[in-house]
Amino acid sequence: MRMAVVGARGQLGAAVVNECGSAHEVTAFARAALDVTDGNAVASAMNGARPEVIINCAAYNNVDAAEDHPVDALNGNAFAVRSLARAAADHGATLVHYSTDFVFDGTASAPYAEDDQPNPRSVYAASKLLGEWFAADAPRAYVLRVESLFGRAPDGGPAKGSVAAILKTIVAGGEPRVFEDRTVSPTYVVDAARATRRLVEANAPAGLYHCVNSGHCTWLEFARELARQLGVDARLIPVRVADVPLRAKRPQYCALSNEKLASLGIVMPTWQDALARYLEARG
Ligand SMILES: NC(=O)c1ccc[n+]([C@@H]2O[C@H](COP(=O)([O-])OP(=O)(O)OC[C@H]3O[C@@H](n4cnc5c(N)ncnc54)[C@H](OP(=O)(O)O)[C@@H]3O)[C@@H](O)[C@H]2O)c1
Repeated sequence: MRMAVVGARGQLGAAVVNECGSAHEVTAFARAALDVTDGNAVASAMNGARPEVIINCAAYNNVDAAEDHPVDALNGNAFAVRSLARAAADHGATLVHYSTDFVFDGTASAPYAEDDQPNPRSVYAASKLLGEWFAADAPRAYVLRVESLFGRAPDGGPAKGSVAAILKTIVAGGEPRVFEDRTVSPTYVVDAARATRRLVEANAPAGLYHCVNSGHCTWLEFARELARQLGVDARLIPVRVADVPLRAKRPQYCALSNEKLASLGIVMPTWQDALARYLEARG
């Protein structure tokens, strides 16, 4: 298949290019080659690539900064998706778009399913929810909600995100501060990329899927498992969400159920298994 991947040098984008590049004709657009907030540039890039599948890994991901820059967040996370959906319609292409657990308010006590009601609590979250809705304008769209991504940084640069920060602190002999009351379903980018490829190759029913590793944990539990797998007796400092001043609200309980994916035969490995493979790949 001819695939166009945008946001191709992000942590998920690089994993998708790597996963799909071995079997498909992939055109990878890094931000320098295509700014997805420029609708004309999107149309012209897709006219050149003539994709059968467009995979959108670009996003405005600075959750706190979005509170002060809502227009940038809406452009990057919503209106850019509308341009990509229009390009998908022009080319009869399938659109794959990634969203987030942040669309939920985090007040649940059991893992969220795809048909649970979103209730975004921040500008970033609202912009991502709008992006989900715009994605549905494509003739066929997969909207894959991922969460707490981890993976190797593209081009050997510094890895981003909470997992990388905890790992770096533990390896340096420090004492990471970790939430004891935020529950997440951490997701290895390699597994999310593999699930993406399988969905597309299987021509699975279009729609919304929770694409996370199986299981869930608090960040404290995650850090404990990380230290255990590293064989390090790390001192972890538990903190509570209410005690950490953050510009944007975070949903507190955001485990996602991936049973819908599993019902298609795409069974996501557990987060502990994913973590072990990530650490091994890191060396
Ligand atoms: N990271 C997480 O924990 C997490 C959690 C839930 C959902 N998600 C979603 O998962 C997807 C992938 O996230 P990620 O962690 O891989 O993000 P990432 O590493 O920050 O990658 C995003 C990429 O998009 C690029 N980009 C930003 N604005 C762009 C624009 N206007 N035009 C073109 N490219 C642009 C970035 O380029 P620059 O680096 O040059 O800005 C970066 O290469 C996103 O939809 C994100 O919202 C991520």
